[in-house]
Amino acid sequence: MAKSFFVCQSCGAEHRKWMGQCPDCGGWNSISEQVIEQASARAPGKGKILATSSITDINLEDSPRRSTRIDELDRVLGGGLVPGSAVLIGGDPGIGKSTVLLQAAARLAADKPTENQPAPDKYSAPVLYITGEESVQQVHLRGERIGALHPNLLLVSACELESILATIDKIKPSTVIIDSIQTTVSNRLTSAPGTVSQVRDCSANLIQNAKQHGHALILVGHVTKEGALAGPRVLEHMVDAVIYFEGDRGHAHRILRAVKNRFGPAGEIGVFEMTDKGLIGVRDASRLFLAERCRDTPGSVVLACMEGTRPLLVEVQALIAPTVYATPKRSAIGVDTGRVAMLTAILERRIGLPLSQHDVYINIAGGARVNEPASDLAVLLAMVSAYQDKVIPEDIAVFGEVGLTGEVRPVGQPEARAREAANLGFGKLLLPTENHERVQKANIVVNMRGQTKASLALTAIRHLSEAAQKLLA
Ligand code: TYD
Ligand code: MG
Repeated sequence: MAKSFFVCQSCGAEHRKWMGQCPDCGGWNSISEQVIEQASARAPGKGKILATSSITDINLEDSPRRSTRIDELDRVLGGGLVPGSAVLIGGDPGIGKSTVLLQAAARLAADKPTENQPAPDKYSAPVLYITGEESVQQVHLRGERIGALHPNLLLVSACELESILATIDKIKPSTVIIDSIQTTVSNRLTSAPGTVSQVRDCSANLIQNAKQHGHALILVGHVTKEGALAGPRVLEHMVDAVIYFEGDRGHAHRILRAVKNRFGPAGEIGVFEMTDKGLIGVRDASRLFLAERCRDTPGSVVLACMEGTRPLLVEVQALIAPTVYATPKRSAIGVDTGRVAMLTAILERRIGLPLSQHDVYINIAGGARVNEPASDLAVLLAMVSAYQDKVIPEDIAVFGEVGLTGEVRPVGQPEARAREAANLGFGKLLLPTENHERVQKANIVVNMRGQTKASLALTAIRHLSEAAQKLLA
């Protein structure tokens, strides 16, 4: 007998009756009916005894990591693709997901087994690229333009899950790319492609299939208007790694960010630049983010932040203007708005800047996004500089967390941050007192581009007021 239930298409919650608003996520008009065949009742009985093995005896030889031959992608994946694992790549339409995967696919297809990467049989197996959105001709044309053609890369335009699984069973590829999971449909379900139940069902089957055959599976997922992956909760916990493609159309660079990774560190980023030859990895990302820096302008400070294990220099900009609203605006792009509101309050109370009649705008230049409290000091100094209309010297980089009393607190990996600043020619560094000793021990020399060597000048800061005095006296 056919049974039906109601599923919210934005959060995946199941309900027994239709409602206008989902009680779980609060979304309006997101619930739709789904009919399923009732599963035949399982015969009751005892389960069989499974073979267990000691954690120390697990054989790792079977699943070496496989490099994609794209350094920035490998970095985000934690070293490469793990056979039998599933990776989800999400991002806005047109950001470059298909492009980077086609590049990776061609390189994987061309990959010859090497001495330190064994399992040759598996590696010479083809790479299967399943496109549900574009025709194979379109993919070929793009591949031709970006130099991603290889006979060992097999293309097929398909949407039906059952046919895809049958094809995988026949070909036994080393890597499978599904572009995209939202266009894949299972004929067992009546719901439309892209709905939560289709996405969930198709992903579960593809992931199980990957684990059985031992091939790496890459799923492309689109992001909805609100910025969430369609069916986000249902997908994110099913896969081994979730990678987001970020960046805006106004800039040529794109950032791949690992938000979850069972096989490597999360929070790791890869930086790419979109060119007419496809996406090119950017090793020297700090230079890219500082390229359009405005010098001699009040309200600009260079922050040495960390993205995963990678130090990155970005420009923090602040604008402070008299407000025309009853409640002044605190707005931020690239940093958390709540944090900016808190920092504004710290400035009012601890330094005495009268900001209650001013709007505060913070921007991280170049479209970067900073998610760590180590950005506090830079944001605060940019605000003070903007308010006082005084320029902060251009060869200074800053990092440090600031507490509610205005005290400057130490942050992680100070040496890496300092080294990155010195590499890019910054001669001075403002840092928390408790980080000073560690950085001093590291004995960092500034890269002066051929001129005489100088060591990085460190200024240790205990309190916000001290920093403001030293820089903007
Ligand atoms: P695409 O990979 O199709 O995006 P997604 O799969 O995430 O939807 O990227 C398409 C965009 O990238 C499109 O706006 C054109 C641009 N692009 C280039 O600038 N150079 C190139 O070499 C390629 C292939 C695409
Ligand atoms: Mg695409």
